[in-house]
Amino acid sequence: MKKNVRKNLRALLSERLSPEEVKQVYKSYDIIGDIAVIRVPASLEKHSQIVAEAIMEIHKHVKSVWKQTTPVSGDFRLRGLKLVAGEERTETVYREFGCVFKVDIKRCYFSPRLSYERMRIARLVSPGEVVVNMFAGVGCYSILIAKHSQVQKVYSIDINPAAFEYMKENIRINRVDDKVVPILGDAGKVIDERLKWVADRVLMPLPERAYEFLEHALKTLREPGEKTVHYYDFEHAKKNEDPVEKVKIKVSQKLQTLGIRLETLSGRIVRETGPNWYQVALDIKVTG
Ligand SMILES: C[S@@+](CC[C@H](N)C(=O)[O-])C[C@H]1O[C@@H](n2cnc3c(N)ncnc32)[C@H](O)[C@@H]1O
Repeated sequence: MKKNVRKNLRALLSERLSPEEVKQVYKSYDIIGDIAVIRVPASLEKHSQIVAEAIMEIHKHVKSVWKQTTPVSGDFRLRGLKLVAGEERTETVYREFGCVFKVDIKRCYFSPRLSYERMRIARLVSPGEVVVNMFAGVGCYSILIAKHSQVQKVYSIDINPAAFEYMKENIRINRVDDKVVPILGDAGKVIDERLKWVADRVLMPLPERAYEFLEHALKTLREPGEKTVHYYDFEHAKKNEDPVEKVKIKVSQKLQTLGIRLETLSGRIVRETGPNWYQVALDIKVTG
């Protein structure tokens, strides 16, 4: 969210709420296509509609504003949503780096905040590579890779039937049917049953559980040569700690126990997810 947009929201709200209340309004909110998702502190609950209407005034294309009522949770990584203003609709079309993603934000995971990270990965893919995306959602990483690299194939797995249906539609809309293969199922099982030793690169964008699936990720890589695992995790770090280093230690220890030769390990903070909590991305290069 741009700084001047945040400022506009606060300026607009200061005409309608007390200075104390304006201070409590969360600075960031998500715009996904023509839908906005806000979080409102309990103390401002009764003013939710005022906040929602101000957002619709600033972002003229926004047709409905939903309030997030629960954290993202469960296997499908969904959040509770309650309509605050505008149309009662959760399906929308979102655009990112020349790709179009249709999504129902109530039935599928979706975050516009990962846009930079998705494109960063797409830019790393070399011509002719085979990629396995273990937790593909509605297909954002897979489709961006297909559009912005000369990848040979992206096997794109998700366990949520609704996300799988949208993924299929997004593959068709973006005309990448020849490159992206949508697969419905549990990534671990799918790899064991049909995707062993096929990939040059594997993506694990499920930070809550990627660690559990590391062995499966390694099984999908083909030999010989250097291969890449894009691993995601959430990590807590105090002021004097580095969350990336903490994840590096955890992952390299696990790889050691699995007998994997680690070539390089680089990482970055994708975003802050709460006080002292970070989403971390590791690019892991392994051989043999
Ligand atoms: C955090 S979302 C990431 C979605 C997508 N990569 C994106 O950037 O929008 C994680 C996804 O993993 C899926 N998922 C959870 N457990 C899974 C499993 N065992 N196998 C395959 N997909 C799974 C969820 O349904 C969800 O869509």
